[in-house]
Amino acid sequence: MTQTTLFVCSSCRFSPNEASRNGISGGQHLIEQLQQALAAQNLQDAVHLEPVRCMAGCQQPCNVSLAAPGKLTFILSQVSPIDGAASVSAFCQQYTACADGRVPYRERPVAVQKATAFVLPPLPINSPST
Ligand code: FES
Repeated sequence: MTQTTLFVCSSCRFSPNEASRNGISGGQHLIEQLQQALAAQNLQDAVHLEPVRCMAGCQQPCNVSLAAPGKLTFILSQVSPIDGAASVSAFCQQYTACADGRVPYRERPVAVQKATAFVLPPLPINSPST
């Protein structure tokens, strides 16, 4: 199975007006929620959750990216640290089951539809010879 990586900014704020709650950033809270949600769907081995210190989208927390070799890359912004994990995890399940990552738009969780900021094509598999 192709390894999927879920990058999550661990530094993102809870909201534009609230950096942290009880000393925990919004991004770190989202990571903890995602760990539970992925495990609940038995995706902890198929999806590697990779915290990132900053993804340069600080004005639109929380920021997440889903990528795998040969698949589309999705960049999501303004994912709720409170209740965004279930939708992102559900999308991870769809993405891992889809050979090229092209999960039909209408089948994606509504929160993921709204949070999708960018979709990038797969990287070329072979680099040009030199
Ligand atoms: S702090 Fe999350 S993108 Fe910069």
